[in-house]
Amino acid sequence: MPVLLMLKNAMVCAAAFAVPSLLRTPRILPVCSSFLHLRHAVLYYCTVNGKMKSRRMSDHLERTANNFRQEIISKAKVCGITNESARVKRLRLAVADKDFTFKAGQWVDFFIPGVAVVGGFSICSSPGLLEKEGVLELAIKRTTHPPAHWVHTQCTLDSEVALRVGGNFYFDPQPADPPANLVLIAGGVGINPLFSILLHAADLHRAQENKRTAYKMGMTYLFYCAKSTDELLFRKHILDLTSAFPGKISCNFHVTQQSSPICEKLQPYIKEGRLCGNDLEKCISKDTLWYICGPPPMIEFISELLENLGVAQKNIFFEKWW
Ligand SMILES: *[C@@H]1O[C@H](CO)[C@@H](O)[C@H](O)[C@H]1NC(C)=O
Repeated sequence: MPVLLMLKNAMVCAAAFAVPSLLRTPRILPVCSSFLHLRHAVLYYCTVNGKMKSRRMSDHLERTANNFRQEIISKAKVCGITNESARVKRLRLAVADKDFTFKAGQWVDFFIPGVAVVGGFSICSSPGLLEKEGVLELAIKRTTHPPAHWVHTQCTLDSEVALRVGGNFYFDPQPADPPANLVLIAGGVGINPLFSILLHAADLHRAQENKRTAYKMGMTYLFYCAKSTDELLFRKHILDLTSAFPGKISCNFHVTQQSSPICEKLQPYIKEGRLCGNDLEKCISKDTLWYICGPPPMIEFISELLENLGVAQKNIFFEKWW
């Protein structure tokens, strides 16, 4: 069974690379849509298979089989690689297709030539950066999962991959929408989609200041939990946003297993120990939207906490990530 699955994934991978070049020639579009049919068939097969084999349920394609996905698959070239922490690399990707867009909070299917398993990574940059510069960013933790392993061992500047956007977890308010406050609660690498949402909130504040938008962005509170301060990704950028938007963006870091002294710059914004009801109580209002992303036990813990605090289910959005 796994061999068959790998073969099918390899076909999807091959299809992903074939499709972008085919798209340039409208006459070949029927071929392209048959590739997409193939892909749906594979997804269905995986879901059925996944129910029988729980180990394989952790695969990105299976986990997200029922999620929304865009049709566009774009080629993308790696144009930057930096260490975000000891175990997390940050990739900057130049996206080839000008029609490729995403909403803050969404992920990409990440197709790598020669790697059968398709990766799934949340985008950590803002939609505005893609609009302005044609690039997006991913922060990827080192694991044995083949796509993450490839990023950490083989990926170089100019490596080519293909990307497709998907996901039902996003923040994309329209000008006519009522103003809302945001609470973003991240655990570990669950920060990725929430950092994108935070950057988007900052862009909306800037647009509001320049009177370029009718949408009135409310207050944004970030709660970010990790084992230690070294694992708090984007911490400098987050602090910069807090100072750039006083009274509009606030951040609260939590560390649970810190052994060394905490750096002074983080001091007023950091607590040792788990996030608890007291921390979240002050954010409660009927206009508050709650976005949670982290490992499943954390999400269960936080949603229960919010339920006990009387937060309406319809205002809570979450993405499980591990
Ligand atoms: C980035 O981290 C890797 C280990 O993961 C290390 O080998 C490399 O030297 C680091 N690069 C920089 C620029 O610090």
